[in-house]
Amino acid sequence: MRTIDWNEEAGSIVMIDQTLLPLEYRIIECKTLASLCEAIRSLRVRGAPALGATGAYGIALAATLSSAKNMAGMTKDLEIAAKTIKSTRPTAVNLAGGVDRVMDAISDAFDLNGIRDIVMSEAKKIADEDVEINKRIGAHGEKLLEDGDTVMTHCNAGRMACVDWGTALGVIRSAVEKGKEISVIACETRPLNQGGRITTWELMQDNIPVTLIADSMSGHVMSKEMVNKVIVGADRITGDAIFNKIGTYTHSVLAKEHEIPFFVAAPTSTLDPNNWEDTVEIEERDSDELRFFRDIQIAPDDVKVYNPAFDATPMENITALITEKGVFYPPFLLDEVML
Ligand code: MRU
Repeated sequence: MRTIDWNEEAGSIVMIDQTLLPLEYRIIECKTLASLCEAIRSLRVRGAPALGATGAYGIALAATLSSAKNMAGMTKDLEIAAKTIKSTRPTAVNLAGGVDRVMDAISDAFDLNGIRDIVMSEAKKIADEDVEINKRIGAHGEKLLEDGDTVMTHCNAGRMACVDWGTALGVIRSAVEKGKEISVIACETRPLNQGGRITTWELMQDNIPVTLIADSMSGHVMSKEMVNKVIVGADRITGDAIFNKIGTYTHSVLAKEHEIPFFVAAPTSTLDPNNWEDTVEIEERDSDELRFFRDIQIAPDDVKVYNPAFDATPMENITALITEKGVFYPPFLLDEVML
């Protein structure tokens, strides 16, 4: 099934609970806005493109639940829902992008049912487009990979981070589909281990060879020439930086030092040309994510913790940017990439 979808019969959002992977594959349902927001905050659904579809379906859910008797009342309900959903996670631009795109579509409606139909069809369109866009990213990006490559990746930019297929892992999947033998080194991605839990699980399901390493090993494997390309996804791309899971910046510096190509694969919906690195809010997460590993305490009760979820990689560390429109090389002029 898709990472996130709409259940027509139940009138609910269905998703794979990613916090349980790889130990358990459980489908959960969100029937209220509160349960959806909880699912986003606790990363049951995560990854920039998947969050875009989630935000869009969130507005569709709010429209279904609204008991408003007129257009103004419904619009007000949806505006409140939009604000609530957008406040759950600030860094991945796709979440707000998905919400805004569905909200913009409301202006075409003439009555209450019209609003419900329009927001639902726009949300479904965003989800369908995501799969198609990822396939296009894969088709462009696979040309950068050669038979026999070992590719390092960070976090999970696979089908679990999207509606399906994936961005960074989508490029790898497309290369494998073309008959190339590609091996992957997956960085575990502390503190929530999306690489260790989800990327390894996804690739093993597809029989793509994958080796798990701790994040701190990336310099070592690069210096030993065990990696010849790095490919990651992105949560937001400003004019001067790529925001992605914490640790990406470190890998990019190491890749530059070892002259290893560093590729970023993302849909153009992740581009944010109106912002710069220092105007973007980096989500800071609960200290317990570092003080505990699941329910085992691994640091003192009262230790001071700093837990940013993302970091910014400067454009000069990026070899190429792969989007559904093609492969782009420096200087990365976002207005041109968006065309
Ligand atoms: O905190 P997460 O798990 O939502 O972070 C996800 C990432 O950083 C991914 O690398 C990014 O969203 C790209 S997904 C195609």
